[in-house]
Amino acid sequence: MRRILVTGALGQIGSELVLALRARYGSEAVIASDIRLPPLETLKPGEHFEFLDSTNARQIQDMVRNRDIGTVYHLAALLSATSEEKPHVAWELNMGGLYKVLEVARQHDCKVFFPSSIGAFGPGTPKDNTPQDTIQRPTTMYGVTKVAGELLCDYYHRRFAVDTRGLRFPGLISYATPPGGGTTDYAVAIFYDAIRYGRYTCFLSPGTRLDMMYMPDAITALIGVMEADPAKLIHRNSFNVTAMNFTPEELAQEIRKHIPDFELRYDVDPVRQAIADSWPNSLDCSAARAEWDFAPQYGLGAMVEDMLTKLRARIS
Ligand code: SER
Repeated sequence: MRRILVTGALGQIGSELVLALRARYGSEAVIASDIRLPPLETLKPGEHFEFLDSTNARQIQDMVRNRDIGTVYHLAALLSATSEEKPHVAWELNMGGLYKVLEVARQHDCKVFFPSSIGAFGPGTPKDNTPQDTIQRPTTMYGVTKVAGELLCDYYHRRFAVDTRGLRFPGLISYATPPGGGTTDYAVAIFYDAIRYGRYTCFLSPGTRLDMMYMPDAITALIGVMEADPAKLIHRNSFNVTAMNFTPEELAQEIRKHIPDFELRYDVDPVRQAIADSWPNSLDCSAARAEWDFAPQYGLGAMVEDMLTKLRARIS
């Protein structure tokens, strides 16, 4: 088997995807990469971690050629709020990086995974039960790079037969990495503050409803879409996926089942509120269910219980 390369391996998804890929295909088969390096002592014998700047075509080329890479999970990207702060960097990394990865994939016949997002939708998109195929006119730089990324991946598939596949992720909730620049990250930060201080100040307003998914379901979905029988795929870039949707107030109520005195206050950040308001309330995932058996396991209650247990153990 040709090896798997993960870019952005120290990021929100990469940190957990690398562990899952090593468990599934063996450590020898997986090369984690990032522009930061993990402390050496955290790597076990046989585990690979390499420096890779995914905006550098030469570095990607060398990595793919020298390490016999057959699949790239290209995760290196800025999230939505950081992309609004630094739109030029977002374009350079989110788009420029993807284009270079696709070019190398074309030359070396690699399969490519691209993470799209609910951010690929905009204010003109139907908000409830958002269809798989619908209006995509995002108003953020993050969204622009996600729509353009979806189109570019489909183009490389149609034009050059590169096996590209992608998911439109909702907000991802995980205990492994701290919140890092996303609009949906309030739903991660809230757990840290609930455990440490019993209260949290939310940067989105009480009624902001957004789609979310617990990281174990996201990892299963990632591997699921990449292993799916290509003959069954009508869509490729990218599939709507989600597992639950809630407002900050509903999340707080669920947390209070475990921490009864938990207090939620609000100090709305207009930039992130505007981003959230431009995104759907709930996605229709029927194409993912029909074409490759997408079946998330965690709803709101199970996610909150597991997050509190795992994060408490981690923080202490
Ligand atoms: N979680 C992402 C963000 O908020 C959405 O894809 O940026």
